[in-house]
This record gives sequence, structure tokens and C-alpha cells, in this order.
Amino acid sequence: MSWYDGQGKLSEKTVTDFRKTLLDWYEHQGRTHLPWRVDKAPYPIWVSEIMLQQTQVETVIPYYERFLAALPTVKALAAADEALLLKLWSGLGYYSRVRNMQKAAQQIMTDFGGKFPKTAHELQRLAGIGPYTAAAIASISFGEVVPALDGNMFRVFSRLLKIKADIAQPKSRKIFYETILPIVDPDRPGDFNQAIMDLGTSLMGAKTETSADSPFAKFNLSYQEGIELDFPVKSKRVKQKPKFYAAIISEKKGQLAYVQRDKVGLLANFWTFPMLEFDSWDEIYDGVAQSYPNAKQLNISPVTHIFTHQKWQVMLVQIDEHDDKWTYLSAESYEALPQTTLQVKLQTALKENL
Ligand code: ADE
Repeated sequence: MSWYDGQGKLSEKTVTDFRKTLLDWYEHQGRTHLPWRVDKAPYPIWVSEIMLQQTQVETVIPYYERFLAALPTVKALAAADEALLLKLWSGLGYYSRVRNMQKAAQQIMTDFGGKFPKTAHELQRLAGIGPYTAAAIASISFGEVVPALDGNMFRVFSRLLKIKADIAQPKSRKIFYETILPIVDPDRPGDFNQAIMDLGTSLMGAKTETSADSPFAKFNLSYQEGIELDFPVKSKRVKQKPKFYAAIISEKKGQLAYVQRDKVGLLANFWTFPMLEFDSWDEIYDGVAQSYPNAKQLNISPVTHIFTHQKWQVMLVQIDEHDDKWTYLSAESYEALPQTTLQVKLQTALKENL
């Protein structure tokens, strides 16, 4: 089975055969029962795609259902209180995702007369919608024939066709787009894209080698040459420096000190323990001791939290001092506020140490 004919053009016959194999496999082995694969209206598809960006399918399902129950329409999302948004998103992390969704909902109400834009091109004008999400919504909800290029799509097609473009380089997107576009099923582009996602998380997972009886073996050029795991080609990025924090535990009459973080940056607007930032682990001990001579280190192993581009290591330190800049809250009033995953980890570490 060859992907190309004698003139180096994509073979129609192979493309047709591949689409049929993929969609048959998807109907029988794919996750067609997922809630966002049943209701294909653009709003729920959008909600699911944003939630799924950095979060696993199983985690997303209950969040997806709660979000749509609380905010069933674009209009409701556009008008929602920030506190409700954060509560609905609490634990998913990357809160800028939901803030951007609200901005986009407001754009739809004001710039698009309340109607969801229908093309990948127009969808990209909305806050938080990049080329992948735009293509996913346009193909699934509106039947536009476009490939939704995510990590799965890069992996699957780089292996099938031995595409050597470096996926760490932005310019490679165009190569993948142009190679895959004529392969997308023109009658079922949404199913085609979602089938590739399923293939990329099962038979063609990052560390999974194709087996001889896979229906995709005959389409997989890299497998046939025994070089499957060399794809996709991805050059290494320079690692981000980790950041080090001391989270301050200051107690007053059974209440703990909290601060509301800045309006911009990571964890914007959330309430966390007061934090001191340092460049290295060594500096924390001296740094804290200078400000609070009687500080007591609580957690022996630091709490680690990974954001997309940053790794934070946080040590808990208990101090005797109080500070008027801080807000003292009871456990109850604190728990009523939206929680970030980092802060939940810190609270857990604190309980284990007291
Ligand atoms: N990840 C991103 N989009 C998805 C979808 N529609 N189905 C399953 N996993 C996904």
C-alpha cells in the first residue's frame, strides 16, 4: 500500500481506503459515547475543547456537565459573575482559559450578533481560540473540512507518512496542514479529526508501537521501516528555570493569613497564602530567617507545581508574626472561595504537618 502514485501525488485509492478504515475503527473502537460527541452544537463543543486542552478526558467529563448545567448558553456565559466562573473551573487549572472564554462569549454577543461564527478563520478572532480549537469547532459543529492539528495529529501523520518536519518549529504547522488537508474526510471532517485523537491516544500513542494486526499497519510507513518511535521529530527546547517560594503560615485566633494575587500573571485574582519568591532553594532559608527570625519550616519535601512554562517548588513556613496587609480567614470562609490546585496541595501538606 503506497500513499503516493508514480508522480509523487497522493494516491486517491489509498486516501479513500484510509478514511474508511479510520472511520470504521472509530465507530467500533473509538470513544463515540463521550458527551461532547453526542451534542455537536458549537457552544458545548467549544467548552469541551477548552477544558480538554490541558486536562484528561475522565477529569473533564464532570466539569463539562456542571459547566453546561450552570451556564447553558453563550449569553449566560457572557453575563456570568467571575466568582461563578472560577468556582466552575476550580481544580482544572490554567484559569486564563475560562476568563478568555467569557471574553469570547462577550465578543460573540457584541461582534457577531449572538451567533457563533461558523468558519475556522472567523473563530480565530475570538479570545482564547487558536488554530487547533477553531478547526475542531468548525469541523465538528459546522462540517468544515480542516484538520485539527494537535499533538495527536502530528504524531499520527508524521508516523504514517514519515513527515520529518520538526514539530517544535512553528513553520512546520503549514507542512502538516497542507499534507493532511487532502486526506481529511470531506463528508465527516469532525469524526475524522476525533478519530485521529482516539488513534493518537490508543493504537498510536506516544510510546506505543504498531502491532502487525493493527488495521493501520499497512498505512504506516515508519512502522514498516521499524523507525516508528523516531516520529514525530521534535527538537528540545531550553528548560525553564524553576522558581522557589516560601508560603507563609501565620495564624491568628484560629484563622490563617491569605492574600489576593495580582490581577495579572499566574493564578491572577486567586487567594493564596502569602508567598515570598526566591531564585534558589538555598536562598529560602536565609531569606525567610531575615524577615522572620523564628520561622519554622513545615513541610520537609516541598510542594511542587507545574504550570505550562514554569515549575514552582513551595516550602511551607510557619511564623509567629502577624501582618495587617494580610487577610485572616477561617477555614470555612476560605473554602467558600475558588480554590487553585496549587493552594489545595499546600492546604493538604499543611494538614499533614500540623
Ligand atoms: N481532546 C481534545 N479534543 C477532544 C475530543 N473532542 N475528544 C477527545 N479528546 C479530545
